[in-house]
Amino acid sequence: MKFNEKNIRELNKSPIKLIADEWALLSAGKCGAWNTMTISWGGIGELWGKDAAFVFVRPQRYTREFIESSDMFSLSFFGGKYKDELSLCGSKSGRDTDKSLLTGLTPVFDNGAVYIRQAELVLVCRKMAFFDLEPKGFTDKKIENNYSNGDYHRMYVGEIVKTLEKS
Ligand SMILES: Cc1cc2nc3c(=O)[nH]c(=O)nc-3n(C[C@H](O)[C@H](O)[C@H](O)COP(=O)(O)O)c2cc1C
Repeated sequence: MKFNEKNIRELNKSPIKLIADEWALLSAGKCGAWNTMTISWGGIGELWGKDAAFVFVRPQRYTREFIESSDMFSLSFFGGKYKDELSLCGSKSGRDTDKSLLTGLTPVFDNGAVYIRQAELVLVCRKMAFFDLEPKGFTDKKIENNYSNGDYHRMYVGEIVKTLEKS
């Protein structure tokens, strides 16, 4: 099975199911210096006339360092499979573990991006912007319950430059 480029407008799965239910791996970096972490919050849509993905990363995530130093990030989706591996990538930090070694998930390096070989679907994104969430913007005050440590997410907006699907 290999990856083929796909028209993102022909995705036939709900983005909510893709992200919230099945989870994704958010990856960034280059060969020898990359990391990946599980996400289940985020979005896919349109901004500034570009097809875009939106991800939310807390300050303490090691993956954030790689997103910061890269022009690219990627989202790898697994169709509901690999949940044990995704749980591990969402509970251990790449600071003190080799997630690839522990899970058997392997990287593909592709023009400044890294994504996961075992994925069914990959969105390769060019970083366009970031915004730090601020409590003054929470019109629903209950949102603050997600931030008892004050670790407000940074939202990254990426232009989706390539959509890959396994055939
Ligand atoms: C299902 C699931 C969803 C998660 N979603 C997010 C998310 O959207 N944003 C975030 O900052 N952390 C999220 N996490 C937590 C990170 O994946 C986790 O802290 C991870 O260990 C960070 O790894 P790193 O330090 O190697 O980057 C999620 C964890 C799980 C299990």
